[in-house]
Amino acid sequence: ETDKTKRTLIASIDQGTTSSRCIIFNKIGEIITCSQLEHKQLTPRPGYTEHDGREIMGAVLNCINRACEQLKDLGYDSSQVKTVGVTNQRETIVFWDSVSGHPLCNAIVWHDTRTQSMIDKISKDEKIVSMIKDKTGLKVSAYFSASKIKWTLENNEQVKKAYDRKTLRMGTIDSWIIFNLTNGKVHATDVSNASRTSLFNIHSLEWDEELCHLFGLTNGPFPYLPKVMPSASNFGMIDDPTCYLSGVNICSCIGDQQSALFGHLCFNPTDTKVTLGTGCFMLVNTGHMAVSSASGVLTTIGWQIDYYNPCTSESEESTTSVSKPQPVVYALEGSVAIGGAAVNWLRDKLRIITNPDETESIARAVTDCGGVVFVPAFTGLFTPHWDSTARGVIVGLTSYTSRDHIVRATLEGVCHCVRDVYTAVKADVLTERESMGGAVKEEDMFQFMSVDGGMTRNGFVCETLASFSDSRVARPKMVECTALGAALLAGIAAGIYKDESDVKDWLYSKGVCGERAVFDPIMTDEERKVEEERWIDALERSKGLAG
Ligand code: G3P
Repeated sequence: ETDKTKRTLIASIDQGTTSSRCIIFNKIGEIITCSQLEHKQLTPRPGYTEHDGREIMGAVLNCINRACEQLKDLGYDSSQVKTVGVTNQRETIVFWDSVSGHPLCNAIVWHDTRTQSMIDKISKDEKIVSMIKDKTGLKVSAYFSASKIKWTLENNEQVKKAYDRKTLRMGTIDSWIIFNLTNGKVHATDVSNASRTSLFNIHSLEWDEELCHLFGLTNGPFPYLPKVMPSASNFGMIDDPTCYLSGVNICSCIGDQQSALFGHLCFNPTDTKVTLGTGCFMLVNTGHMAVSSASGVLTTIGWQIDYYNPCTSESEESTTSVSKPQPVVYALEGSVAIGGAAVNWLRDKLRIITNPDETESIARAVTDCGGVVFVPAFTGLFTPHWDSTARGVIVGLTSYTSRDHIVRATLEGVCHCVRDVYTAVKADVLTERESMGGAVKEEDMFQFMSVDGGMTRNGFVCETLASFSDSRVARPKMVECTALGAALLAGIAAGIYKDESDVKDWLYSKGVCGERAVFDPIMTDEERKVEEERWIDALERSKGLAG
């Protein structure tokens, strides 16, 4: 369309751990406008991290309106936005009252470790551990929402009272956003977010009564937990006179890492992406097969699509019920809790840098880490170790050590963590590849590690990751893959794209795909071995340090 006032636009709300954003895309995946606002990280006690649900909602609305105002400045109009997608930090859980519509307490954030002793107790029972793995694909960990729910029901009087009178509503951040944007009409989530709660059976696609009981929801899932819908489907209409997009349908909802997988156009089994953000997350599409890992990798739901159906889309039904969604697409996931968060720690707590962007030149100012190794295990170790007793360590300090060595060791430490995840995920995929992708040849897989996220702006990080993992790292030109994924899914459910292959046609032939920077490994096998040995030694020292 040559007249830009007639072009179709899609808004994506990306509510992350440290900030909220609204990005408005055109149909070929170009960013037209973007607005971003940070929110407070509330840390009342060591190991605790909370978010204020009202602050987040205020930021989301502000971002939507600012992004729409920028549209006007560029000669577009917000009426061109035909649908909205929501993607979000996962596992973080919000509790609110259905009558007042207000949060009953702060949200407990995904990396909060207050429930560790509860998790330790549950972990002692092998039967429960394997029941949880079989049903949810997850490890028993404080990372997921379930133990945070049980803790809150036991420790917060307000929440307990609302539970007893059945006005308690809870959900991951997506549910909270959708509830607010629809003016309290819709309490829903999608399969990908539900799969991160440890209450959802990823095979039957239902909240699991036994798990609900185990984690304190003794009355069962409803009315407390949200209705679970396909990731691309009609979640309801925005109903807020203060919002420029009031009247527009929310047509997707998906966890941020799964959204990035979709935004990288990883539509086929064995397609892989790695996001290096606050934390780092590697996901591999495993098609319609839920692959069970032997190496500490999580089995999770990627997405589920309810393709646009013009016959049902205008009916009342379509906002509340599922028509004929496709089978879910599963993924294997390796998670690293601390990635860019370690760099923020250098800035905010050690105060040895002023801006994460300067870490590239600082790291390059020295030829190596001077014998320093930094394991950024601030909240324990996730994939593949799942060791909650681990804490961060910096080893090998001498009077020769400078700030530059510590900064370089921080970046290298994150790359080591990602390499460990890569190795574990690769092992699982190679074992399962026959069933996943038919006759996918090993040499056709893992040709590139497709990366995105704030840390990948740092060329040193991309080079180091390539060397440590002995793999080519590809950074697409358009790195807003998380927001793009939710926008594309909303576009499919709203009938803007027919399906995934139509998405590829639009984005490849006319849009943002294709161009990328490639980083090749530059380390010899010998050098890699030395680095790995140092890392394994430091990793061992990080274990068992939790107080
Ligand atoms: O599982 C946690 C993850 O979804 C958080 O992602 O990008 O907000 O740090 P991010």
